[in-house]
Amino acid sequence: MKIIIYGTQYGAAKKYAEELSRRTEIPYVSYEEIEDINIYDTIVYIGSLYAGGVQGMKKTMAKYDAGTDKKLIVVTVGLADPTDKENTDHIKGGVKKQLPDGVYEKATVLHLRGAIDYTKLNYKHKTMMGLLVRKAKNLPEEKKNAEVRAMIETYNQVVDFVDYESLSSIIDELR
Ligand SMILES: Cc1cc2nc3c(=O)[nH]c(=O)nc-3n(C[C@H](O)[C@H](O)[C@H](O)COP(=O)(O)O)c2cc1C
Repeated sequence: MKIIIYGTQYGAAKKYAEELSRRTEIPYVSYEEIEDINIYDTIVYIGSLYAGGVQGMKKTMAKYDAGTDKKLIVVTVGLADPTDKENTDHIKGGVKKQLPDGVYEKATVLHLRGAIDYTKLNYKHKTMMGLLVRKAKNLPEEKKNAEVRAMIETYNQVVDFVDYESLSSIIDELR
């Protein structure tokens, strides 16, 4: 049995989960609603990135039992450009820390690009982004990697990088 679980704050990860479900006919559910994840042999976890954390993943995967014939695909949704290896290495390091011991090694980790609308952010997220961007702007030029530059460039804007064609990497992995 297969399942797509999503963790979102503002909807980008849910949009990807819905479209992936439409294309694969695998049901999708929010991490807040999933009960026993161990009844599935294939799990796609699609979660948006918040300061390196994948929304809802740590809590959801805490009880995951990685049996030999199980497949876990973790998909992150963030603003950082997933074609930049420096970004994805950094994200993967964070994912590893949020999974129970030994699970990361057996999992496939993929990356999608999300969206942000500063007019819709809650107070906490607006404040966090303000602080992060101020800190980022003060970094010496050589320390501003692609992730940091993307954050500065998109600050206070409405950007949408959601691209359903990028779901093909997940669909290939599910074959
Ligand atoms: C407070 C905050 C922290 C964020 N941290 C990251 C991050 O560490 N890496 C990243 O790529 N994107 C980061 N983002 C961007 C979100 O991951 C992006 O907007 C994502 O599409 C949100 O998905 P959602 O609509 O499913 O909640 C952050 C956004 C906010 C508001």
